[in-house]
Amino acid sequence: MSTIRFPAIDRRAFLVGSASITAAASLPYHTSGAATPVREFTLVAAPGQVSLVGPPHPDTDVWCYGGRIPGPEIRVRQGERVRVLVENNLKEETTVHWHGVRVPNAMDGVPHLTQKPIAPGEPFVYEFDCPDAGTFWYHPHQRSYAQVGRGLYGPLIVEEPESIPVDRDVTWVLSDWRLLRDASISDDFGAMMDVSHNGRVGNTVTVNGRVLETFSVRVGERIRLRLINAANARIFGLEFEGHSPQVIAIDGHPVEPHTPPNGRIVLGSAMRVDLLLDMTGRPGQRFRVLDTFYRSLEYRLLDLNYTDELPLRELSEFQAIRLAGNPLPEPDMKGAQRHQVTLGGGMMGTMQMATMDGKQVDIRTLMHNGLIWAINGVAASGHVHEPLLTLHRDRSHVLELVNDTAWHHPMHLHGHSFRVISRNGQPTEHKEWQDTVLLAPRERAEIAFVADNPGDWMFHCHVLEHQLGGMMGVIRVA
Ligand code: C2O
Ligand code: CU
Repeated sequence: MSTIRFPAIDRRAFLVGSASITAAASLPYHTSGAATPVREFTLVAAPGQVSLVGPPHPDTDVWCYGGRIPGPEIRVRQGERVRVLVENNLKEETTVHWHGVRVPNAMDGVPHLTQKPIAPGEPFVYEFDCPDAGTFWYHPHQRSYAQVGRGLYGPLIVEEPESIPVDRDVTWVLSDWRLLRDASISDDFGAMMDVSHNGRVGNTVTVNGRVLETFSVRVGERIRLRLINAANARIFGLEFEGHSPQVIAIDGHPVEPHTPPNGRIVLGSAMRVDLLLDMTGRPGQRFRVLDTFYRSLEYRLLDLNYTDELPLRELSEFQAIRLAGNPLPEPDMKGAQRHQVTLGGGMMGTMQMATMDGKQVDIRTLMHNGLIWAINGVAASGHVHEPLLTLHRDRSHVLELVNDTAWHHPMHLHGHSFRVISRNGQPTEHKEWQDTVLLAPRERAEIAFVADNPGDWMFHCHVLEHQLGGMMGVIRVA
């Protein structure tokens, strides 16, 4: 499998003055008279054509929101209510899931479990509050391995009531694509080879829907860089040569500002990291941003390109910044109920049997049905299932996640955020709040949270091919 970038010759240099996206296709406005301000947006899901690689390569046929990749930015303030009219101009059913936002169950966008999928030509209105500030995103939950893989996703930014002092607030929606020579998308979605290994890792990486050569910066500038991994499967491990970005939030939620181990910022699929990036170089300098996650398949994502402008400020003037926490219920570790959740299957695994549609079947039968992964011995297809776990509402719970496979899995829980309290038996340094926790092969992690959001919630691997291949289940909060 190739993870090299698309062999593009003569890519157009794409200078981004500000990568903040103009929400051309979405028209926010305040509805007067409401107790909480309601911000309205429209998202039209439809086929489109965009220049992913740039000339001389032709445009790529994609599926997208608002005719663009990524979809229009939804940007609101913490505590605001959002109403999104979704129109489905695709030829198949869809839904929209608001990844990481703690929405009521009926607004969660899971086909058949929380809503009837949106038929072609039909509208659907989502409406929910945004209790947490941070970096979130939206994407379909219907055939997501194909719909997300073809380009349906966009950023959802919830601003803090008081913005932190930065010069620029920039979002990079990272994704990758499996493109053919003519820059069209290879349509082998859901191939068993991808399902059974590390998912559909593509050959072309884009930043905000473009193969990007350079990102221009100014000496003395402080940037809040919001990274969103919207790729089906690719895990990013970004290194900013010559710089030491500070992680200030993970999956939207503030974390004690820190420089990650080896300066590498790791994001599994669906994860977000907010960085504080201080531009400490000199005018005219260039620094590479590398993705070194997959050993021996490192590549240069882009160059940070310093302009010749005078420094915006003295480097000594940078002050520490800390974000205020989100209103998350603190789990009570002493009284928490414990549950074990074991991930099994995949190539080079030991799984021989699993439960499929209520029956114990062998691995050959599973694979015959496109399944090769299981959670607690159950390989799930489709979204509606007997719950894997039923959690007492408003109680604290610890889930011990055991990755009994040879592969990485970014595990995502809907409707809640959780603290990652330990990895392989060692307490984590920051007890970070996340909604998607990346487990390395054979790794164990404990997550803790208060199950305060009633309903049936998906719990699944966000490598969308693993989800397709059975690594999915329902957690009931009742
Ligand atoms: Cu981002 Cu269940 O999804
Ligand atoms: Cu997985």
